[in-house]
Amino acid sequence: MSQPVLIARDVYKRFHGGPQPVEVLAGASLAVQATQSLAITGASGSGKSTLMHLLGGLERADAGNIEVCGRDWTTFSAAEQGSWRNRCVGFVYQFHHLLPEFTALDNVMMPLRIRRESAGIAQIKACEMLELVGLASRMLHKPGELSGGERQRVAVARALVTRPALLLADEPTGNLDSDSAQLIFDLLAQVTREHRTAMVLVTHDLELAKRCGTVLRLSKGILQSMKRPADIVD
Ligand SMILES: Nc1ncnc2c1ncn2[C@@H]1O[C@H](COP(=O)(O)OP(=O)(O)OP(=O)(O)O)[C@@H](O)[C@H]1O
Ligand SMILES: [Mg+2]
Repeated sequence: MSQPVLIARDVYKRFHGGPQPVEVLAGASLAVQATQSLAITGASGSGKSTLMHLLGGLERADAGNIEVCGRDWTTFSAAEQGSWRNRCVGFVYQFHHLLPEFTALDNVMMPLRIRRESAGIAQIKACEMLELVGLASRMLHKPGELSGGERQRVAVARALVTRPALLLADEPTGNLDSDSAQLIFDLLAQVTREHRTAMVLVTHDLELAKRCGTVLRLSKGILQSMKRPADIVD
């Protein structure tokens, strides 16, 4: 089997902000191979978004190791984390987080410009991605001029334009009607397959979860494998 793109070992995370500490992750572990798609499900508040932030190096774990493309986030400085993330990881969230003042094209070019690709090359790659997600005719529109599903398609294009090894998608369809949700899921599945990108998908939609090769459930701070469809209850 190929080298895993993502390995998390015994990850712990506790928040101290409120009146009492909240232990969210208590030994969560997973491994994702190149080209694998894995769904994470679990009750609201079980720690799925927290886990995704840690997996993507956006927050630090209290304990445990998280390796992306063979390197451990916990050994990185903040600057190293930023460039490694730009190189290896794409994110899609429930809300698109596009920059409202910029066109769809500018938004998709952004991660390429951050990694200092020339404007010309970035534009060509961003146009290709926007065509791939079916938005060739809307490239010069700003997010406010697009529908919710179209905005999310721009977010998918932005996440995948760098051809990351790993896509982290936290409820990317959570804010959409079921037809648009299906479309976004199909798009994620198609592009990650074509680009050979591994995907971790957080979803409350058990039908979508089951379409990923592997389904894990986060409960009591740990990830458990859902072996049979009958195990998958939310
Ligand atoms: N910065 C923070 N400070 C304190 N507690 C936090 C913080 N972030 C998250 N939490 C707590 O951690 C727990 C897990 O939150 P998280 O957002 O990871 O859950 P989730 O599984 O993504 O939920 P949902 O399905 O509703 O998106 C919650 O109880 C939440 O209140
Ligand atoms: Mg969440």
